Amino acid sequence: MALSDDFLQELRSRADIESTISSYVNLKRAGRISKGLCPFHGEKTPSFTVYPDTQSYYCFGCGNGGDVITFIKNIENLDYIDAVRFLADKAGMNMPDDNSYDNTSNKRRLRMLEANREAARFFHSCLGTKEGAVGYRYFKNRGLTDETIRNFGLGFAPDSFNALTNHMMKKGFTKEELVSANLARRSTKNESHIYDNFRNRVIFPIIDVKGNVIAFGGRVLDDSKPKYLNTSDTLVYKKSHGLYALNFAKKSGKDALILCEGYMDVIAMHQAGFNNAVAALGTALTSEQAQLLSRYASEIMIAYDSDGPGQVALSRALGIFKKTAAKVKVLRWSEGKDLDEVIKNYGVEKVKSIIHGAANEIEFALLHEKENYDVTTDDGKRRYLYEVAKILSNVGEIELEIYASRIAEELSFSKNVIISEAKKHMKKESAIRQKKEFTEVQRTGDILDKLNPQRQKFFKAAKAEEMLIAIVMANPTFLKQVEKKISSVDFVTDFNGRIFKAVSDRLREGLSAEISFLHGQLTEDELSAVAKIQTVSYTLKNTMEECNDCINVIISEKNKKIITDTNVESISDDDFLKFFNNN
Ligand code: GTP
Ligand code: MN
Repeated sequence: MALSDDFLQELRSRADIESTISSYVNLKRAGRISKGLCPFHGEKTPSFTVYPDTQSYYCFGCGNGGDVITFIKNIENLDYIDAVRFLADKAGMNMPDDNSYDNTSNKRRLRMLEANREAARFFHSCLGTKEGAVGYRYFKNRGLTDETIRNFGLGFAPDSFNALTNHMMKKGFTKEELVSANLARRSTKNESHIYDNFRNRVIFPIIDVKGNVIAFGGRVLDDSKPKYLNTSDTLVYKKSHGLYALNFAKKSGKDALILCEGYMDVIAMHQAGFNNAVAALGTALTSEQAQLLSRYASEIMIAYDSDGPGQVALSRALGIFKKTAAKVKVLRWSEGKDLDEVIKNYGVEKVKSIIHGAANEIEFALLHEKENYDVTTDDGKRRYLYEVAKILSNVGEIELEIYASRIAEELSFSKNVIISEAKKHMKKESAIRQKKEFTEVQRTGDILDKLNPQRQKFFKAAKAEEMLIAIVMANPTFLKQVEKKISSVDFVTDFNGRIFKAVSDRLREGLSAEISFLHGQLTEDELSAVAKIQTVSYTLKNTMEECNDCINVIISEKNKKIITDTNVESISDDDFLKFFNNN
């Protein structure tokens, strides 16, 4: 994996870190840096910082950091080379000759996507065969048109242990490939024998935003269990990130997405013209899915089932969306369990009116809470108002005014009391939150402490080493003078010595030592550490004097360390016996 310096240099200048990140994170410029809410952990006060001068980023909350490639790796869930390819594509650059880097994992990934595509084609074609007619009838009975079946690439897996495997092997796919794509399983009795994973089920291919078939869902035709079977995690599919129909919804041109619970709800919604419907696959919404959704739309309308489990899932989802930038609305209905049923029994207009009457998060919480109290009694009213104040403690001034007026009128109660109670809560909440975020930072610990085990013991030296590395990285011309006085072997802590060596080896050759050029030599965590070290240079004057100060500290601390090391060294048992016997 060695991409040429020229290529990386070109990428560095075309894929600017600040503009790349700002399409994922809402950044606010403050002087030489930009800040925003970290997309890698939940937070309310921004600790995610982008440094345009060094083309790096670092989150002081969770310790994630690196360059633009690291960022894309993490946020798009790609490996190094695919992250580079992703950025190059965006920048309109060609990737260098494919054999100049190790792309075996990429080849395996592409091959798996081919296998999935072929399997999808096979399942779809089965709908037209004698064995598959039952699948086609199933979809028709559920009200799907031929066009919908075609658009979603729906299919049928025959009631057979080898229909798909035989087909795929004829097409040249190996057993190993089919098993690793989770299209087939290995027999426990005979390891060399494989059999179809999906049998006698209607098939829903899961397609990513690039149009790749990445996984499948299969539903039984009757009431047997499990109702749905899904591809487990593979090289190309991570269930916790998966979203159904995002490929279509993304193209809907709408700024809102409707989040349903199941495959059939999504398909029925699209067929009814609501082409911005998606579903989170897997039973419970994950924060990765929520982050992804909030990147594609500024508003998410949650349309979970009206039954018990659906409502439990809804309150969980509301909590998860709180950590994203998305505005959330809740769709509520009492006509049937899910939107598929609503459409079938009441038609499109009903869905329109449900969407129109969607409660925003606050309205929903207020309605939801009100159901728990009998507000015709004084006691019920008092307890409800207490909950109201809690809910309103999370809203802005204007909303507070609006909802307080509304509820004051509804319950004939003083608006000002509601407002002042809400504000009391607000103060308490924000103190609790700050404390929580602070403890989170404490718990994560400093990435440098984690990677550099000697850092706490030799704190003074380690700090000076970090400053020196930061200054040299920001001012490569200083290296010559610095190296006259110190080299990596003089560093007190081994970790910092290694980083200094990686940086100075490149600078000495006249090469750039920015993080983007160190991916080959350092691990992901080490790159985060370098990004953290670099943040120091923004608070310094970046002069040669500062370098000299650092060098003096390192040298004197190193001498102290040598003395303590010698003192501490105790005489070995062997030496002691020798000494004892000789005397
Ligand atoms: P239909 O009965 O086909 O209308 O499905 P539904 O979407 O109404 O079913 P339900 O509300 O029971 O489930 C909602 C979603 O949860 C489904 O679309 C699946 O994604 C998932 N799900 C339901 N049952 C199972 C199961 O047995 N296994 C797995 N892995 N997922 C399930
Ligand atoms: Mn249903």
